[in-house]
Amino acid sequence: MGGEAEKWVLMVTARTPTNIAVIKYWGKRDETLILPINDSISVTLDPSHLCTTTTVSVSPSFDQDRMWLNGKEISLQGGRFQSCLREIRARAQDVEDKKKGIKINKEDWQKLNLHIASYNNFPTAAGLASSAAGLACLVFSLAKLMNLKEDNSQLSAIARQGSGSACRSLYGGFVKWFMGKEENGSDSLAVQLADEKHWDELVIIIAVVSARQKETSSTSGMRDTVETSPLIEHRAKEVVPKRITEMEGAIQNRDFATFARLACTDSNQFHAVCLDTYPPIFYMNDTSHRIISCVEKWNRAEETPQVAYTFDAGPNAVMIARNRKTAALLLQRLLYNFPPQSDTDLDSYIIGDKSILQDAG
Ligand code: ADP
Ligand code: DP6
Ligand code: CO
Repeated sequence: MGGEAEKWVLMVTARTPTNIAVIKYWGKRDETLILPINDSISVTLDPSHLCTTTTVSVSPSFDQDRMWLNGKEISLQGGRFQSCLREIRARAQDVEDKKKGIKINKEDWQKLNLHIASYNNFPTAAGLASSAAGLACLVFSLAKLMNLKEDNSQLSAIARQGSGSACRSLYGGFVKWFMGKEENGSDSLAVQLADEKHWDELVIIIAVVSARQKETSSTSGMRDTVETSPLIEHRAKEVVPKRITEMEGAIQNRDFATFARLACTDSNQFHAVCLDTYPPIFYMNDTSHRIISCVEKWNRAEETPQVAYTFDAGPNAVMIARNRKTAALLLQRLLYNFPPQSDTDLDSYIIGDKSILQDAG
């Protein structure tokens, strides 16, 4: 370590988009390593709309690891943050900043403390996958700071230990998380199925039905489901494996009818196992259900589906329109039926494309 009077600070900033699963992850076989009970597939969103920005800094003057989320200090004591920090520090390399006269040897990272400041530009813990963007960004920015040599797939296995869905946010485009077979989780990682330019006529519209924090976190919700739902095993073993194969084909062939059918039915089945959990978990509300009816009616009135919908662990609708023209019509219908800030309880709309992972560091 070096630098004038040990007063130096080294910083990296990164920006990571969130991702929305079209074949959902719900249920773990290992709570500590975060190993899922089925494969999942997602679409990464445009970082200019829904993303996390994280700045990580290191300095010999920091006396402990600390983290701020949306301007408020949060504890880093949770096992998940500790797993990510431990895995990254174990892979840290030498870092040199000649301009600042700083040299950090890889062993130094074990003693140096970090300050982490993270912001989500969208509702946190409201079912728009803030844990995905947040933990992926944390891992990505720390990996840059500590000069890790691992590729994005290897980093995804670290992000997975922060939040399962985070492993899919290390790539843009369409991403698959393999559940893996190994007990130590080494093969439970994400790969890119198709990049962001593939099928770029799709447009994503998000209806923020409620930006409030949900009552049941994804972590505790899926734990209760695995413990109490008789349907979850059927879903994980019989239904999802077939859907994964079909969904991969639909993405490769840009087959919107199959894509929409699979995305909608998988979202509906995920919410069905939530209802099958005891006590039941209600992530969607009346407005969510009305949005589903609106899209279903429209799709059935056309020769082929125009819009796919999917809801994560919250009431907010993520809709995928087959092209820009359909997106414009969808927005028109939504604004007519669900005007924002009215008694329909809809907070706002966010519109975006599929996207690229951006490194602002
Ligand atoms: P969501 O549906 O938004 O992903 P979860 O219940 O899965 O909701 O996770 C929410 C939790 O994720 C937050 O309470 C917080 O612990 C963590 N989280 C969210 N954003 C960030 C972030 N930017 N950095 C670190 N952790 C985050
Ligand atoms: C409904 O990844 O948030 O969004 O692994 O416990 O952090 P933890 O849960 P999380 O669960 C996401 C569930 C989901 C579906 C999905 O993203 O695949
Ligand atoms: Co989450």
